[in-house]
Amino acid sequence: TVPALTLDNGVQIPQVGFGVFQVPSEETQRAVETALEAGYRHIDTAAAYRNEEGVGAALRAVGLPREDVFVTTKVRNKDHGLEETLAAFDASSRALGLDVVDLYLIHWPVPSQDRYVETWRALEKLHADGAVRAIGVSNFLPEHLERLGAETDVLPAVNQVEVHPGFQNRAVTEASERAGIAVEAYSPLGRGAALDKPEVTRTAKGLGVTPAQVVLRWHLQRGRIVIPKSATPERIQQNIDLFGFELDEDQLAAIDALDAGERTGWDPATMDLPQA
Ligand code: A2P
Repeated sequence: TVPALTLDNGVQIPQVGFGVFQVPSEETQRAVETALEAGYRHIDTAAAYRNEEGVGAALRAVGLPREDVFVTTKVRNKDHGLEETLAAFDASSRALGLDVVDLYLIHWPVPSQDRYVETWRALEKLHADGAVRAIGVSNFLPEHLERLGAETDVLPAVNQVEVHPGFQNRAVTEASERAGIAVEAYSPLGRGAALDKPEVTRTAKGLGVTPAQVVLRWHLQRGRIVIPKSATPERIQQNIDLFGFELDEDQLAAIDALDAGERTGWDPATMDLPQA
């Protein structure tokens, strides 16, 4: 089984989750069922992914006890605002078929709208009401975290951001960690780009594991939560099989040294697409 990290508010989160970003809605149920059967107990979706129904259907089909699975979803950009976010939460919780969501995140700060503080107030209310067990953010830059710290009551439990060997996003991860905010790495494999780096393939060969396992293990040993995604059952299985080996300090440092500003996703400073 996958170890859990304890968030600042005492909630436990399995350190490996199954991400369903870009998994088409009609394939989501099957992919999530495969993940749950492979032992994943943490599923990461978002209203913007348009596949919350598939996640819910898989949870019901597999039928694990509710408290055994940790489910995250996110507020999309066009739902920022206090009332809008409360309504968006209702829609997400209905789509998932869950009364209580384990972790609810603001998907993007959308600085051009400048409503993330108000949106955060809605998350604080949902948390106080018991509709969500933990609240957090995604793609927040240090300045956005600072503003929440100055203007609101509860700090985010997590910041979910792009991190992989070629894009380590250090200013953001370090500011988050300093504030006691856990870092969740999305695109932990760099959408595959991390897997052919010689430092990674060499370590994989030496340990008798795959490059993906080396990169995911590096994240775990650096204290991050990871949400790899795959449409392939064998890879889904492989991406959670990370607990029978470890990287030594030299192997970790060799991957630390690959940071090269290779962002694969959107830049949070300018990202303001309404549908995301
Ligand atoms: P596929 O879905 O065909 O398995 P990220 O999580 O960083 O966004 O990376 C996801 C990409 O990496 C997908 O293209 C996925 O392809 C691929 N991938 C996921 N797991 C593995 C793995 N264990 N080995 C090789 N490629 C993988």
